[in-house]
Amino acid sequence: MHRPDNFVSDLLSSHKPGHGLPQAFYTSPEMFERDMETIFYREWLYATPACTLDKSGSFQRLRIGAYDVIVLRDNQGGIRAFHNSCRHRGSIICSASHGRVAKLTCPYHQWTYGLDGQLVWARDMGVDFDPTQYKLKPVHCRELAGLVYICLAETAPDFDTFAATVTPYLGVHDLSNAKVAFQSTIIENGNWKLVWENNRECYHCAGNHPDLCRTYPEDPSITGVSPDGTFPEKVENHFNRMEAAGAPSRFQMGADGQFRVARMPLLDGAESYTVSGKIAVQKRLGQVPFLDAGTLLMFHYPTTWNHFLTDHSITFRVTPISPMETEVQTTWLVNKDAVEGVDYDLKNLTTVWEHTNDEDRRVVEHNQQGICSPAYQPGPYSTLHEDGVIQFVNWYLNRVRATERPTAMAAE
Ligand code: FES
Ligand SMILES: [Fe+2]
Repeated sequence: MHRPDNFVSDLLSSHKPGHGLPQAFYTSPEMFERDMETIFYREWLYATPACTLDKSGSFQRLRIGAYDVIVLRDNQGGIRAFHNSCRHRGSIICSASHGRVAKLTCPYHQWTYGLDGQLVWARDMGVDFDPTQYKLKPVHCRELAGLVYICLAETAPDFDTFAATVTPYLGVHDLSNAKVAFQSTIIENGNWKLVWENNRECYHCAGNHPDLCRTYPEDPSITGVSPDGTFPEKVENHFNRMEAAGAPSRFQMGADGQFRVARMPLLDGAESYTVSGKIAVQKRLGQVPFLDAGTLLMFHYPTTWNHFLTDHSITFRVTPISPMETEVQTTWLVNKDAVEGVDYDLKNLTTVWEHTNDEDRRVVEHNQQGICSPAYQPGPYSTLHEDGVIQFVNWYLNRVRATERPTAMAAE
């Protein structure tokens, strides 16, 4: 469908602050493309826990919009990322979602690349052929305390501020000694922003998450962003107790609101996300000083929220697929020496978030269906319970506004 040049700027100006976004933000292919170009192709994106790349040649393949990326462990123990497109005629090189290789061999004509991306073999290309001109194209890649991030932009934005802020918080979780106990990948039939909006509030929790509510507090100061910078006494006491025991916990947020980190208490007596509220893994991951240390909450827009617990950690990765489809991948990390059936029961470990993800999928899909109606009119967010949603939407709108095209600006 042809849209006028000022489609995005008109949409931006039709948004009423403190309200949901107009319909097209959640439905239109043009807006989806714009989101990919202005956000997902520019920002740092969470890729995978580093422990999924445990040996040289271990790789994970990621697909983000039009891009196809290989993230791998090289022979020196470093982590690198490359575009999954052969420098001969462009074929993808890795078709598997993950695996282990000695070298990267293109299946089409067998051009072969080292784990450093150098072209090491190409048959019959003639005497003038210079293989150094045909390295795999690199993708920016950083490891942060056991979590791998990539950036598709030519010039990557700052990563150091985020890394320097959150690394001390992650230290006690020791993700370098983790292994994947379980991974789930689901598709939610909803726009990626609805997935985030739902994540950024617990206004919906009591009505939708019976298992999660056994341990996770509905208290908006836990999920939200503390617009006035204060926390209830109970949360302050929790920060103080944890920090005195060596576990950085106090709430911090990036200057532009892209990330937040804070160790928040669970409900009284709760230790972890299990139906009983007790820890799920006896051989714990990390050196968190107390069983009731709560959950280290960390989000980084646009791709990840995380729960780092006293016994295990859970990472979430959000990948838009289409205007109304979003992949959510959840990874449960446990101590690499913990033995399933001995130190933990997999069902006990995963039940609460398997259920919670499915419940969230349902509410996001229902939200999307209602937004698709011509009768949809954006309503007001609760300033008490949905300040986190307001914060996310503002971050998003600022990013889109910052990349407004000059022609669109002129048309306003
Ligand atoms: S396209 Fe890869 S070797 Fe030809
Ligand atoms: Fe939820």
